[in-house]
This record gives sequence, structure tokens and C-alpha cells, in this order.
Amino acid sequence: MTEWATRKPAALCAMAAASMILFVHTAVVGQDPEAQVEERQDVMESFGASSKALPADGRQGSGTGGDVRRAAAVIRQGAERLPGLFPEGTGVGVGDSKALPAIWEQPEDFAERIRTLQAAAADFSSAADGGDRETIARSFAELGRACGGCHEQYRERDD
Ligand code: HEC
Repeated sequence: MTEWATRKPAALCAMAAASMILFVHTAVVGQDPEAQVEERQDVMESFGASSKALPADGRQGSGTGGDVRRAAAVIRQGAERLPGLFPEGTGVGVGDSKALPAIWEQPEDFAERIRTLQAAAADFSSAADGGDRETIARSFAELGRACGGCHEQYRERDD
């Protein structure tokens, strides 16, 4: 067999993979905006529930080391999904979205907020694995600031 002939299947395979990626991407973009708002709010709810499951300072006092690690894992995984959860056209006015237009007016700053959360979630996660109470408390407070900082700018307040 020539070299080309042996390579051909691999090239075809790569093309098939590329068109699948394109298809998946289109499917996500074509998703119903209200469903996207709900999906995003579910992720945020999982953050809220995980944070509330811990004592205010993130210490293990009333919980166990396992609770802290579980909460940290939920937040870290959810934070990784955030960049894909704010497509344009899902702001205030769609379903019960509280996402302010500023998100799409200042996309770079918004992306930075997400990165800040991801970094804080990763730190909290390592602290949770390490098990040192002081470090857990400090990184939990930092995580809370990453949540609050973004809400302050980009989430409509409940009045
Ligand atoms: C990058 C910005 C950003 C970060 C960081 C962020 N949020 Fe949010 N959050 C939002 C926005 C925007 C909304 C409104 C979403 C909507 O209504 O579609 C929201 C909504 C929520 C809600 C309400 C969900 C609902 O059902 O209406 C909760 C609870 C929440 N966030 C908790 C958290 C917690 C806890 C953290 C930190 C671990 C966090 N968020 C980090 C932007 C952020």
C-alpha cells in the first residue's frame, strides 16, 4: 500500500470528527433560549446549594471533610461550564433571566470574572483536599468574593 492509502482513513476520520463537532456546536447554539436560562440557573443553584451546605466560613465544624470536598468539586466543575452558559439572547426578558445586558456589552470583563471564579474554585478545591481549616476558610471567603463580585455587576437585583 502507498503511504497515502494508509493515511487516508485517518484523514477521513478527522473530517468526520470535525463535522461532528460542528454539528454539536450548532445544536447548542440552536437551543431554546429559555432552556438555556434554566440550565444556567440550575448550575448557579448548584453553587448556592453547595455553598450553603457549608458553615459560613467554610470550616468543617458542622460538616465533614467529605462535605467540603464534594461542594468544592460541584463548584469547580460548574465553573468550567460557565463560559458556554451565557449565549447572547438569554438576558433579562427571556424567561426569568436576571442576566444583565452588561454581560454582552463588556464580554472581556465578564470572561475575566469567570476566570476569577475558576481560579478561586480550583484553590478551594485544593484546600479541601489538603484539609487545613485555615486554608479552607480563607479560600472559601475568596470564592464568595468571586461570586459576589460578578453578581454585583452582572445580575439583576431582586427588589
Ligand atoms: C461570572 C459571573 C458570575 C459568577 C462568578 C457567579 N455568578 Fe451566580 N449568577 C450570575 C448571573 C448573571 C446570574 C443570573 C442568571 C440568570 O438569571 O439567568 C446568577 C444567578 C445566581 C443564582 C440564582 C439562580 C436562579 O435560580 O435564579 C444563584 C443562587 C447564584 N448565582 C449563586 C452563585 C454562587 C454561589 C456563585 C459562586 C460560587 C456564583 N453564583 C458565581 C453570575 C455569576
